[in-house]
Amino acid sequence: MRIGILTGGGDCPGLNPAIRGAVFRALDHGDQCVGIIQGWQGLLTCETEPLDLKSVDEIIDRGGTILGTSRTNPFKDAALVQQCINNIGVIGLDALIAIGGDDTLGVAARFAALGVNVVGVPKTMDNDLSGTDFTFGFDTAVNIALDASRRLKDTALSHRRIIVLEVMGRHAGWVALYTGIGSGADYTLIPEVPVDWDAMIAQVMTAYRRKKYAFVVVSEGITVTENKNEKLDDFGHMLLQNRGVGPEVAHVIEEKTGISTRSATIGHIQRGGSPTLFDRILGTRVGVKAIDMIHAGEFGKMAALQGTDIVAIPLAEAVGKLRTVPREWIALLEVLSK
Ligand code: F6P
Repeated sequence: MRIGILTGGGDCPGLNPAIRGAVFRALDHGDQCVGIIQGWQGLLTCETEPLDLKSVDEIIDRGGTILGTSRTNPFKDAALVQQCINNIGVIGLDALIAIGGDDTLGVAARFAALGVNVVGVPKTMDNDLSGTDFTFGFDTAVNIALDASRRLKDTALSHRRIIVLEVMGRHAGWVALYTGIGSGADYTLIPEVPVDWDAMIAQVMTAYRRKKYAFVVVSEGITVTENKNEKLDDFGHMLLQNRGVGPEVAHVIEEKTGISTRSATIGHIQRGGSPTLFDRILGTRVGVKAIDMIHAGEFGKMAALQGTDIVAIPLAEAVGKLRTVPREWIALLEVLSK
């Protein structure tokens, strides 16, 4: 078979291991792999490059994606949808692997409904996709945020300050939640819980009195003040990091406590760099599974991690409904606020 592979949406560590896993497994079946450059954009322009053992052999530890990525949405325009379908024929693809988050896999699900032979591989540092227990990119992102936390806590204690760390994650609080728990933060703000300023200030002051510093983790997706001219991407999503909720929270804390407070936003630093072991293994496993799904004719499905197994689930089960932080995790955060 001739199999196209594309990566769409925000890059994250684990994409290259997934591409590599797929190409390695394809060789077992005697398939030929073709990289579609920059996500759905490459299918519109027919920009491709061959993918063989040599091109993927050394990429297990590389961040980003060797195929490039974009947030192009062909379903914005019916003509673009048809152009993609025609180009699948032009490139001569028997099947397509779409590696992405909710947006990219949402497009894949719609193509599958139109009869395209497509399977999905989930990725996102936000860890907010339904149907899979984890997505690769998340573990690496949180480990980077933990490293930043350690550094910021050193400075906070040295200066007797309060420091606020803003992390990514869009409208799901997973990155902030894991960073907050893993770093031993004194307070963690996630989009799933409306900000309770009085509770936060009280807790921050309790911690400050005990330790002479305090550390707060904030998800970019929390609502502090209402909409300020948000810019939207192709899929209609706001660019949340431009809202600057971390600096805003730090400002409020300083005003209400009178204690010198700083904020740090690590932004895209969380998305780059070498994948952790977890992300390398998960990426490799779902990449391999995608090829096996194609050979089993399981189109319109996604390779998902459920427990310790990689299973094929319908794309429709994964897309369109964000997996947000449930109540029991919020209860755990409360236990750890002392
Ligand atoms: O979805 C991944 C993510 O990193 C989000 O956490 C963040 O809000 C967004 O992408 C940033 O997008 P961009 O790279 O387009 O600025």
